[in-house]
Amino acid sequence: MKISRLKAKDYSIIIGKNSITTLSYEVKKHCPKCKKIALIIDKKIPKKFLVKIKKKLQKYKIFIFLVSSSEKIKNFNQVNIFIDKLLQLNFNRTDLIIGIGGGIIGDMTGFVSSIFKRGINFINLPSTLLAQVDSCVGGKTGVNSKYGKNLVGSFFNPKVVISETEFLKSLPKRELTCGYAEILKHAIIYDRVFFKYLKKNTKNILSLKDKILVNSISKSCKIKLNFTEKDFKEKNLRMKLNFGHTFAHALEIQNKYSNKLNHGEAVLIGMFIASKISRFEKICSDKTFKQIKDLYNNNFLLKNLTKFIKRDQILKSIKFMKNDKKKDDEKISFIFLKNIGKTTIPGDYKYKTSQVVNLIKKLF
Ligand SMILES: NC(=O)c1ccc[n+]([C@@H]2O[C@H](COP(=O)([O-])OP(=O)(O)OC[C@H]3O[C@@H](n4cnc5c(N)ncnc54)[C@H](O)[C@@H]3O)[C@@H](O)[C@H]2O)c1
Repeated sequence: MKISRLKAKDYSIIIGKNSITTLSYEVKKHCPKCKKIALIIDKKIPKKFLVKIKKKLQKYKIFIFLVSSSEKIKNFNQVNIFIDKLLQLNFNRTDLIIGIGGGIIGDMTGFVSSIFKRGINFINLPSTLLAQVDSCVGGKTGVNSKYGKNLVGSFFNPKVVISETEFLKSLPKRELTCGYAEILKHAIIYDRVFFKYLKKNTKNILSLKDKILVNSISKSCKIKLNFTEKDFKEKNLRMKLNFGHTFAHALEIQNKYSNKLNHGEAVLIGMFIASKISRFEKICSDKTFKQIKDLYNNNFLLKNLTKFIKRDQILKSIKFMKNDKKKDDEKISFIFLKNIGKTTIPGDYKYKTSQVVNLIKKLF
């Protein structure tokens, strides 16, 4: 299988088995004056990858930062620790930070890179499916605060993204499903042909069939790029990517961000609720909703999540929607579905909490 290369405005995304072999060439090309490299790497990534990466970068001074990644360390304290170390080691803007990990490492290392001496070179090696299909695209970086998730951050693009699909072999099945949720979201909101492809190939993606996996990662990144390049700073269009996410975030807070319910699982539930409301409000047809429901059922996507789709659970979570930073006035803004591949326009559907409560009581 050939390595696939996508061109964004400011950077490329290289996807596939052994794509990591391009690393030394890419470093030389994008960071010609680089002498030192900080590798910030998730501890759960098998050691053989670190050995490979170090070998590829032999001619540079390498500093390794091993991280036990979790939402709890995605914060300013950890950012400060990195920044202090980089200052102590005399890193310059012409040097380089490489983040190797899931969305947590990617968001955090991107943020550190954007503020270190007002911007140091950054290369992203996403190692989870979610990071390869979603968080590595679009330039959003950031950390959590005690007031909520991802409330502090910047928009900052990497020099290049290298999505080595071999990373995914050690990823737990549950994490693969989380990444798949974002692939499915991209198809539902933008591309009915890709949705058809997913109907046939969901099982192949989840079992990491090489060609289908690379196609799906690439297609997913293209769709996200389409939104983020037209609306880099999330003024309007990009909000369509929040399909299902208003419910998802609320359910995650309701479950205290515990690993009882992962982000991707919450997104699967959130998209299902949003689709059900879309049908009830006659924004989409029965047929459109059935297509989504069938894809969910045929692939058992909600099999282990039924306890979170209970009326009480959803009702209890609604109060947390108020804290969503994406809300710009008292009402809560939703993205609903018109058709497979087409959503409502951001801002068109705003409901009061009481209206959401009524809808959930009618539907669950
Ligand atoms: N910037 C964006 O646009 C954007 C978009 C979506 C999500 N996010 C952020 O991404 C984060 C979630 O990303 P995630 O799901 O990748 O989470 P994550 O980084 O926590 O990774 C998930 C789990 O997989 C482990 N892991 C990582 N790579 C592995 C590998 N190759 N083998 C085995 N285990 C591995 C991690 O240690 C972790 O336990 C959230 O913080 C979210 O806010 C950002």
